[in-house]
Amino acid sequence: MIQYDKKHEVFKLDTPNTSYIIGIADGKYPGHIYYGKRLSDTDLAYLMRTGEHPAVPSVLPREKVSFYDCFPMEYPCGGTGYFRGECVNIRTAEGQEGLELTYATHRIYEGKKKLDGLPATWGQDCDTLELVLEDEVSGLQAVLSYTAFRDVDAITRSVRILNGGEQEIYLTKVFSACLHVDREDFEVLTLPGSWARERRIQRRNAGYGVTAVESVRGISGHQEHPFMALVSGGCTQTRGEVYAMNLVYSGNFIARSMADQFDRIQMTIGIHPERFCWKLEPQGVFQAPEAVLVYSDEGLGKMTRIFHRLYRTHLIRGFWKDRERPVLINNWEATYFDFNTEKLLSIAKEAAEAGIEMLVMDDGWFGHRDSDNSSLGDWFVNEEKLPGGLKYLADEVNRLGMKFGIWVEPEMISEDSRLYEAHPDWALQVKSRRPGQCREQLVLDLGRPEVADFIYGRLKEILSSANIEYVKWDMNRPLAEVENAVLPADRQGEMMHRYMLAVYQMQERLLKDFPKLLLENCCSGGGRFDPGMLYYSPQIWCSDDTDALERLAIQEGTQLLYPLSAIGAHVSDCPNHITGRRVSFETRGIVALSGTFGYELDITKLAPEEKKQIREQIALYKKYHHLMRNGTYYRIASWQENHLYDCYMVVSEDQTEALLTYVQVLAEANRRSRRIRLQGLLEHGLYELEGKTYRGDTLMYAGILIERMKGDMQAKLIPVKLLERVEE
Ligand code: GLA
Repeated sequence: MIQYDKKHEVFKLDTPNTSYIIGIADGKYPGHIYYGKRLSDTDLAYLMRTGEHPAVPSVLPREKVSFYDCFPMEYPCGGTGYFRGECVNIRTAEGQEGLELTYATHRIYEGKKKLDGLPATWGQDCDTLELVLEDEVSGLQAVLSYTAFRDVDAITRSVRILNGGEQEIYLTKVFSACLHVDREDFEVLTLPGSWARERRIQRRNAGYGVTAVESVRGISGHQEHPFMALVSGGCTQTRGEVYAMNLVYSGNFIARSMADQFDRIQMTIGIHPERFCWKLEPQGVFQAPEAVLVYSDEGLGKMTRIFHRLYRTHLIRGFWKDRERPVLINNWEATYFDFNTEKLLSIAKEAAEAGIEMLVMDDGWFGHRDSDNSSLGDWFVNEEKLPGGLKYLADEVNRLGMKFGIWVEPEMISEDSRLYEAHPDWALQVKSRRPGQCREQLVLDLGRPEVADFIYGRLKEILSSANIEYVKWDMNRPLAEVENAVLPADRQGEMMHRYMLAVYQMQERLLKDFPKLLLENCCSGGGRFDPGMLYYSPQIWCSDDTDALERLAIQEGTQLLYPLSAIGAHVSDCPNHITGRRVSFETRGIVALSGTFGYELDITKLAPEEKKQIREQIALYKKYHHLMRNGTYYRIASWQENHLYDCYMVVSEDQTEALLTYVQVLAEANRRSRRIRLQGLLEHGLYELEGKTYRGDTLMYAGILIERMKGDMQAKLIPVKLLERVEE
């Protein structure tokens, strides 16, 4: 619900349990008043502190800059006295900077508009406020859009800029959201990482000054994540306040918190201004990506559940949104580049016998790609490896009762390729500078329509040539030298964002032409695991690191924001190819179960006992995947924090069923059983668990005892079932 209190010039946006309040100070200046637990009142303009010195400019014009220096601007502009980190700025053709956006008008309507060319949350169960701000001097208009969902406690924000003036202008910075909170004992929580070590949870004190995470790699990246949360000191899974922001974007970003001299923290998120400059002709429009805001008064767990719900019901789309995903086997770690039809079919045959439902042929099936040094761009089947082509292979796999899927990396070009020979200028590069390789490959300039059309045309032809029901869309290097041979000099700053728009457009085309295709995004593992990509693919490969121990941490960080149904997780070979660690087949299966389940190994080399276990694991997946897909997730313990054990559970929406996963990471000597307290059950329910019955309140507040197991990385799945509801 969205209310406008005209008398006090206050806008109040309510979700079921939160309120977000904006005021217009001095009839002009949009200020942030409040975000937090739902309130009933709208008369809260006093929180903008305009009654204190330096008041507002109409009262004390001589202190206008001082006003800007302490006023909680809802969307701060650069160059006119806001010193805490502006959200938007421009440069004119004469080189002048500065902007003063003030309130012009507003609109409130039901539902939510699409964001032109960009991924975004969707739905009808929401209301939108558009605050229209204008800069008198330049004629620039900014439309700040806020959507309050009626069924999820999330607010989304985005910004559309229109050049209403008569001169061209250059947009040098345009963030998507800004939030002010009074500084108490806040910490900043972020998700840093690295290739194969994605999304580790990090907390640091939000002392005075700036804390920022960013990417200028052209991808959201492994190293940082387009997410930041301010959490109250000592915040746990169940207690404490959280203000979180997540950007629905897959390219360069910055998330920043700034604690100022007056003990307020400003948190912002948006496209990184480095290597960004967008030219706006008169009447030109720029749409900035969407940011998701979540507030929780019950710790990180509640924040997580809000994000999961929002992304499951208002971001992920399409045919596979609510469908059970096929259990797949991918040949990457089984064969790397060394495969042919015969080898793949031998894997498929045994996989089918074990109950696996789809074969995914990974990298190496096209051009003359026998290693990662060639052929990207040559999307033609290598008939030497695959006689009869994709059609023959797909038909044979289908004959075994399995679906068939392929790997592609459409954004790339190898210097050793026919495509590069014909179009060396199609690779992103800077004139007279030889482009630097990464994994011996270059990035295609997808911002050029002829390049995008050519690549998409190839993709479409391939996917139409056989019964291909799944695509793993990979992207294996960052963008370094970025210039475009077609755009004029003053538009080169648009390249990074144009690239992202082109990728989004290509994936949109793909989904339109192949609506039943199961698309899984990937970026050297989880380098582009973000809400932007989730809008196109309902699942994303989470990390190249499939070691079960490491995966516990990677999946914990990923699950902090993203639903389990979106997280690509496979059982892989042992000793693990990256870490060399040995973990039992059973534990590897249990860890992979809390994602989209599959295998990444050579099944033909497994012992009969392990093949039998595959059948059992698939049976578990079939039995519990509805819980993983739709259940409510609770993090009970983290081995990253306690260094000993990991524990989480999923509970069905109606609380009649749950599944607890417990992993004893390290065995210890001379210890007694460990007490685990469950979450999310009905207090007055009688539940059955491991052959015993317990009341829900007993399970949640008193807990159960888990016996110590012998050995490291021992895992247990504990199903919980409601027998009956009991009288209170
Ligand atoms: C990336 C992916 C892997 C695999 C290889 C193939 O690294 O993350 O899963 O597909 O590329 O080259």
